Amino acid sequence: MTINRRELLMLAGSAAAAWLMPRSVGAQSDHAHHPLLEPRRFPTPVQRIAPPPKFVTPLRLPGHEDLMASLRLDAPLELYSRVVPIPLLGGPHTLMWCYEGEHAGRLVRNPLLRVRRGQELAIRLRNELPESTTIHWHGLNVDERNDGSGLHPVLPGASNLYRFAVKDAASMYWYHPHPHYRTGLHIHSGMSGLLLVEDEREDQLRASLDLEFGVTEIPLLIQDKQISEKNQFQYEVGDDDWIGNRVLVNWTPEPYFQAERRAYRFRLLNASNARPFNIAFVLDGVALDFWLLGTDAGLLDRPQRVKQCFLAPAQRLDVLIDFARLPAASRVRLTSLAFDPMENDGAPLVDLHLEHPGATPLGEALDLMAIDLEGKAARPIRPPSRLASLPKVRNAPVTRSFRVHIEGRRWLIDGRNHHDDMDTPRFRVRRGDYEVWEIANDTVSMPHPMHIHAFRFRVLERIGSPAQIREQAAGRAGLTPQDRGWTDTVLVWPGERVRIGIDFSQPFTGDQTYMFHCHNLEHEDQGLMLSFVVGDEA
Ligand code: C2O
Ligand code: CU
Ligand code: CU
Repeated sequence: MTINRRELLMLAGSAAAAWLMPRSVGAQSDHAHHPLLEPRRFPTPVQRIAPPPKFVTPLRLPGHEDLMASLRLDAPLELYSRVVPIPLLGGPHTLMWCYEGEHAGRLVRNPLLRVRRGQELAIRLRNELPESTTIHWHGLNVDERNDGSGLHPVLPGASNLYRFAVKDAASMYWYHPHPHYRTGLHIHSGMSGLLLVEDEREDQLRASLDLEFGVTEIPLLIQDKQISEKNQFQYEVGDDDWIGNRVLVNWTPEPYFQAERRAYRFRLLNASNARPFNIAFVLDGVALDFWLLGTDAGLLDRPQRVKQCFLAPAQRLDVLIDFARLPAASRVRLTSLAFDPMENDGAPLVDLHLEHPGATPLGEALDLMAIDLEGKAARPIRPPSRLASLPKVRNAPVTRSFRVHIEGRRWLIDGRNHHDDMDTPRFRVRRGDYEVWEIANDTVSMPHPMHIHAFRFRVLERIGSPAQIREQAAGRAGLTPQDRGWTDTVLVWPGERVRIGIDFSQPFTGDQTYMFHCHNLEHEDQGLMLSFVVGDEA
C-alpha cells in the first residue's frame, strides 16, 4: 500500500510526525553555494494544522500610502528594495522584503502603479538588499534591458533605471524580482506589486458598468505564505513547491470585504509561489455565476459566464459578479474550490505538506476572503455583450515543441535544465514572425504554469486534458473560457499538450534575450526555464 501526501498530512497531526520539523527562513543562505546543495535545518517544532480562517480583518484597499498605495506614475519614481518590519498580522512585526519609495510626500510600499497605455514608465530601483535583485515587469512587451530577468541582476548597493513606453493592452499586470535561483525567496519574502494599464476603452467600460476603481472595482493580490508563530515568512531556498499556511489578500490576513448588493469587478492576481487556485464565489455551499471579462493581458471579446476558473501562479482574472439578487447580510466567500492537484511527479512523500505545517494541502478547498453584503439591492446588470475585438486565432503548423519532464528531482525542458548551460540561449526567433509552440507535459509530472516574457499569446488547442479541464471546455480545441483571451502564462496539466500562437513583433532592434519558464517559482529557480533570442535574423 502506498500512502499519498494527503494521508501523510493527516499523520502529521499525530505522534508519528513528531520528528518532522519545518525548516528555517532561507534568507541567510550563502549565495555562492548552489541552493540545492545547502544543508537543511530543522529548528522549530512542528505546528498543528491551522484553524479555519475567521475573516476578521477588513481587506486592504489601495490607498495613498504604505502597502499597495495606488499611484499614477506621472513622474520618475525611486523604489528601494529593502527589508522593513511591518505590522502585518497582529503581534510581532513581520520582517518583509519590499519595494519602498516616496510618492507625493508619502511612504509607499509595493505600490499599485497606474499607467495610461502609451505613457512612459520610469522607475529607478536602488537595491539595499544584501544580494542581487531586479524588477521584472511581468507581461509587458519590453526590451531585454528593461525586462529585469536574471540576465540583468541589480547588485547589492547598485541601482538601475527601468524606462520604457507601456504599449501593452489595458489589463492588470504585475512586477516582481527575478534573480536566478532566488526568485521564490524574494517573492515569498514580500516583493510584488500590481501594475494597472488603463486606456479610454477601460474608462468606457467602467462608465457603462458604473464602476469606480478601488470602490466597486477591486484589485486582489492573492498569495499563500508559510508564516511562523512569530509572524515571519518562512522559506527554504532549493526546496520544492512552496505552499503556505496562511493566505494574504492585499497583504491582509483573513480578510473580509464589506460590499453593497450590486455589481463588483474584481481583478485577481495569484502571486503565490506554487499554489494554483480554482476560483469561485460561494454562498451557502453553492458556487455563484460570474462573468469572466478578461485574462492576463486584456479583455475577452465577449464575457463568459462561469462558476469557476483556475488561477495559476502569475495569472490574472478580470471578473464581474452581481450581488444584487443576493439577500442582505449574506456572507459570500471567495474560495478556491477543491480540485485534483495532479501531483504525479513521484517525488518522495516527505515533502510539501509536512514541510509546510498548517498548510491546506494542494487541491483542497480553501477559503480566501469573505464578502459581506449589506444595504439596499441595486438593479441587476449585465456586462456589455461585446468587450473587445480580438484577432482571430491563427492556427499554423507547430514551429517548436517543448517537453516538460522530471528526471530524479530535476525538472527539464527537452532533457535540459537552465542551470546546465546557464544563460546560453536555446534558439532564435525572427522578430515579427508568428510561431506556434506546443508545450507537452509528461504524465508523471505536475501542472506547470508556463510563462513567456515580453510576448502575450493565445491558446490554440488543448490535447489530452485531464477530466477537470475537459469538463470546463466548450466547443472545439478543448479550450476553457479562460483560454479565450490574451495570456502570458498558460497552465499545462500532466499528460496535456497545449498549443499556443505567439506573434513575435516588437518595436526594438538588435538581439533581445528573454526567458520561457515555469512560474511555479521553485521550479523556475531550480531551472525549469530556458532563454531564447528575438532578433532580426532567424
Ligand atoms: Cu513573472 Cu519570468 O516572470
Ligand atoms: Cu514575466
Ligand atoms: Cu512547474
